[in-house]
Amino acid sequence: MAIILLTGSSRGIGAAARAALEARGHRVIGQARKATDGDTLAAELGAPGAAEALWQAALDRAGGAIEVLVNNAGVFDANPIDRSHEDWHAAWEETLRVNLTSAAALSRLAVKHWQARGAAGRIVHVASRAGHRGDSPDHWHYAAAKGGMLALHKTIARQYAPAGILSFAIAPGFTDTAMAGDYLASRGGPGLLADIPLGRVATPEEVAAIIAFCALDAPPSMTGATLDVNGASYVR
Ligand SMILES: NC(=O)c1ccc[n+]([C@@H]2O[C@H](COP(=O)([O-])OP(=O)(O)OC[C@H]3O[C@@H](n4cnc5c(N)ncnc54)[C@H](OP(=O)(O)O)[C@@H]3O)[C@@H](O)[C@H]2O)c1
Repeated sequence: MAIILLTGSSRGIGAAARAALEARGHRVIGQARKATDGDTLAAELGAPGAAEALWQAALDRAGGAIEVLVNNAGVFDANPIDRSHEDWHAAWEETLRVNLTSAAALSRLAVKHWQARGAAGRIVHVASRAGHRGDSPDHWHYAAAKGGMLALHKTIARQYAPAGILSFAIAPGFTDTAMAGDYLASRGGPGLLADIPLGRVATPEEVAAIIAFCALDAPPSMTGATLDVNGASYVR
């Protein structure tokens, strides 16, 4: 049984990933802004020191060893360019802190944890198609954070593979969660589906199956890979 720290486990893709991992008999220590059950830790990931406090609380809860980190928590708040300078900067910083800096801080602590124990470990980053393709005019920050996450992932994969520390990234397109609903509404509704050859958005369960594969099954030679989940709406 692996012990897995999964951020953003309360809803959407994270909740589906938790169910998929637990169905296979693994222990998931989840995270959300509020603690909703015994194995969910509260952390506001935009706050200074939150990632470090979360990692320590998760380690305590786990009894000292965590095998897998899944960086899944994320925000998708619009940041129009005609806002005031102050508001634009504040929204940029908040999205970068939640979507990228907290993932980097947790990954750093996970790598140091595995190094100190001489143990192997896995990190799964839930990035986005936006990290490759860019995003809407109101979401420069989101696309930049996800592109940064992909670069972070590749760096970790290349640096720590000799120690058995593996990194995988997933790049979903629209996925049927609250986050995608906000986006579809902001971009003209179902007409956007015309851009998806599959004819529908992904389900959280589809993305969760890939998270579970990367967390548990993916062969070590796959480290460094980014898996697209977008119905062929962006083919690299
Ligand atoms: N849905 C899509 O179309 C789509 C597409 C590509 C990539 N993704 C990525 O997939 C991941 C999951 O997305 P989702 O659609 O499942 O999102 P979601 O349904 O909106 O859930 C977001 C999760 O992140 C947590 N979270 C949000 N802001 C946080 C903060 N400031 N501090 C700590 N936790 C915070 C939420 O906790 P609370 O419940 O406490 O708010 C929740 O558990 C994200 O990284 C997202 O960027 C999603």
